[in-house]
Amino acid sequence: MEMKIPPSLKHEHGEMRASLEITAKGPGKSGEAAREVARLLLPHFKKEEEYALPPLDALAVMAGGGLPEEPKAIIDKADRLRHELVDMLREHQAIAKALETLYDAATSDARPELARFARRLLLHAQMEEQIYYPAALVIGEYLKLKTGRG
Ligand SMILES: [Fe+2]
Ligand SMILES: [Fe+2]
Repeated sequence: MEMKIPPSLKHEHGEMRASLEITAKGPGKSGEAAREVARLLLPHFKKEEEYALPPLDALAVMAGGGLPEEPKAIIDKADRLRHELVDMLREHQAIAKALETLYDAATSDARPELARFARRLLLHAQMEEQIYYPAALVIGEYLKLKTGRG
């Protein structure tokens, strides 16, 4: 079943993809660095949209005391995130390194807007590690308790 991800997060990923697509076509060291970020980031985003972020769409319903329509599908995605978590965090490390290179290249190419973009992407990954991924995992565990699916 195709599950939604929260529209705000979908939009955020979309914005980042679009900005990255433009910068990856750019010249010089920053263009090269952006292409490396894109190479690492695009498949990572795809995985997040597949299983890491969809559980978060249930959060508002659950906070209101309700249960989402397809708890089993959400539990499966959260379990998949738990299973892949080490790899996902490793990918964040590789992405963070590529973003540092992009930041330095953008700074030496005198492109402050691109340097800011690199920092925003880094912050995005940190938010996932600190809030989004843990929240998705907690949602899975909570739904197991609520539905009796151990
Ligand atoms: Fe992401
Ligand atoms: Fe990520």
